[in-house]
Amino acid sequence: MTKKILILPGDGIGQEVTSSAKEVLDFLIDEYQLNFEITNMDVGGTAYEKFGSPLPDNVLEEAKKSDAILFGAVGGPQWDDLGWDYRPEQALLGLRKELELFANLRPAFLFNELASASPIKNHIIENLDILIVRELTGGVYFGEPRAIVLDDPTPYAFNTMIYNEDEIRRIAKVAFESAQKRNGKLCSVEKANVLEVSKFWRSIVSDMAKDYPDVELTHQLADNTAMQLVLNPNQFDVIVSGNLFGDILSDIAATLTGSIGMLPSASLNSSSRGMYEPCHGSAPDIAGQNIANPIAMIASLAMALRFSLNETGLADKIDDAIKQFIALGFRTKDISTTDEYMSTSEVATKIIEIIKNG
Ligand code: IPM
Ligand code: MG
Repeated sequence: MTKKILILPGDGIGQEVTSSAKEVLDFLIDEYQLNFEITNMDVGGTAYEKFGSPLPDNVLEEAKKSDAILFGAVGGPQWDDLGWDYRPEQALLGLRKELELFANLRPAFLFNELASASPIKNHIIENLDILIVRELTGGVYFGEPRAIVLDDPTPYAFNTMIYNEDEIRRIAKVAFESAQKRNGKLCSVEKANVLEVSKFWRSIVSDMAKDYPDVELTHQLADNTAMQLVLNPNQFDVIVSGNLFGDILSDIAATLTGSIGMLPSASLNSSSRGMYEPCHGSAPDIAGQNIANPIAMIASLAMALRFSLNETGLADKIDDAIKQFIALGFRTKDISTTDEYMSTSEVATKIIEIIKNG
């Protein structure tokens, strides 16, 4: 059966990094006779400029038909003043919600060779390997009611942080199962000392623990986790959290590695279709200069092959090639400690060469 892959480069360096990932993908399709059909479409500010919407209807339709979506990045200062419905970020939020991509997997791992790029002392982050499982379609990001109320003597604004039992169970299940496949440790993060929604979250996750006797479950308050991630990140294996706390904690975790340009992510729905994107943003300041690091996007392609395209062997090949690439001393500008570095377009060529040589 043909698998459908939709590439959405988006804005800024999203264009460059997705074209690198596509090069690797084209090579794999050729080399291994894969039955993949690739479509390329605009989203974000780029789509807004051309079609007046950051997520045109035909893109959403195509996305719903696709097995995997490779998403570059969206956003840029020229679109900062647009109304909410037109902002580039709406492409991301719309796709997450419409495709029910509730499970966001954000690994944060360190290539020990790059430890000096981290702002944290080496002995603290050595061998770092964390997986953040962030709930992505609920919580305060999407909770109703929500509004800015200006026609009041005291203008005000509010959002609703809400999770129902099913939403908590389905994300916790992903997290427990991820822990089973990793080192058997799960830390559930919320603010149960302050928020009802967190107290409820904690009780549901605790209740589920009996079904996973092989997983050691702990609970932490989000502010403490922010601190623990910096003080002693290696205490964590899998972290599960709601949408907002997960957003914040995953940025901290990514920063620990010192090279956000290396980290992929996956957003999955219940039928294992998914959207795959680098953890970094559109980086308008370096866009179009052929200096962006495309590894996070190429690693996201590996996640797509693993989770949505049933090609685990090829995913392993890409991950191994990335490890070798780093071990051989190849660096892009963001992770180079000297004046020498590879351009964006050279990286895919090198990765392909490494895969070819096994
Ligand atoms: C992320 C981003 C998004 C989020 C923004 C761009 C809407 O920060 O994917 O982490 O807050 O989810
Ligand atoms: Mg974020």
